[in-house]
Amino acid sequence: MTSRATTILEYKQKGSLMITAQGAQYAAAFHPRPDDVLIATYPKAGTTWMQQIVHGLRTGGDLDFDEITEAVPWIEMAYDLGQDLTADHAGTPRAFKTHYNWAEVPKGCRYIHIIRDPKDVAVSFYHFMDGWFLAPGSVSLDAFVKEKMVENLHAGSYWPHVLSWWPHRGNSDFLFLCYEDMKADLPGTVARVAEFIGLEANAAAIKLATRQASFDFMMHHGTKFDDHLIAEKRNAACGLPLDARSSKLRLGKTGDHKDVMSKATHALLDRIWQKTIGEALGYANYQELRSAFAP
Ligand code: A3P
Repeated sequence: MTSRATTILEYKQKGSLMITAQGAQYAAAFHPRPDDVLIATYPKAGTTWMQQIVHGLRTGGDLDFDEITEAVPWIEMAYDLGQDLTADHAGTPRAFKTHYNWAEVPKGCRYIHIIRDPKDVAVSFYHFMDGWFLAPGSVSLDAFVKEKMVENLHAGSYWPHVLSWWPHRGNSDFLFLCYEDMKADLPGTVARVAEFIGLEANAAAIKLATRQASFDFMMHHGTKFDDHLIAEKRNAACGLPLDARSSKLRLGKTGDHKDVMSKATHALLDRIWQKTIGEALGYANYQELRSAFAP
């Protein structure tokens, strides 16, 4: 019997079936080339957006892919999607998506790391799963944040993930960006990415990649960014209905949480921030952290 989860426990059980043991081993054994670019984010921080920017830059705006994961593979999922991580890509440099923290990520290449306000991440993550892994409306945003994001602050959860990447900012092989700055200045962001990956000389590609990375453009080509590849290949293994779907594009706003998050969950996330990033780095909230490496 296939069904979407109606509790967080069921959600976690189904989620644990997404990547097989062989898939995890294959990903862990991946050796990047020195000029490879890893788009390394916590989920919902703007990963898909950056996949589209990098792929657009390196190909001069190629859209000949069914889903962006085909063009810019997700390291952790590659084996279970039948992708070869050693293959060449449609453009140079090769680019990959990953949600690994720094300890886990393959070393020896270049990294684009994006951070985003954890409250917006929480809302985005919740809506991404609600309707795909979760039966619509069966788990509240409050419960999702408390039981999925905060309850067990393992190394892969938001706050330790940010802390693991933070010491590498400023290193020449790393480009650190904030989702909110990408929103505020997309042309400037695309130009920075182009420079980082060595494609700054191609003004036409930069212009086109910027246009094709706008929220409206990506929405217009929504099926290219909706994770249907993963749903088609992994829903059955996770015990989900074959037609369960989501999209990696939703609202594309900053501050979305202000309208939908309860005061209790706001306060909970503030406490977790203080206990983790606040104590470790001395930044009282996300805005302070963001200001610390504003372009
Ligand atoms: P929302 O759910 O808040 O809308 P990821 O790719 O890491 O899973 O991140 C998904 C988030 O990035 C979603 O946020 C999605 O809408 C947003 N996003 C994707 N492309 C975007 C774009 N071109 N402009 C702004 N936000 C974008």
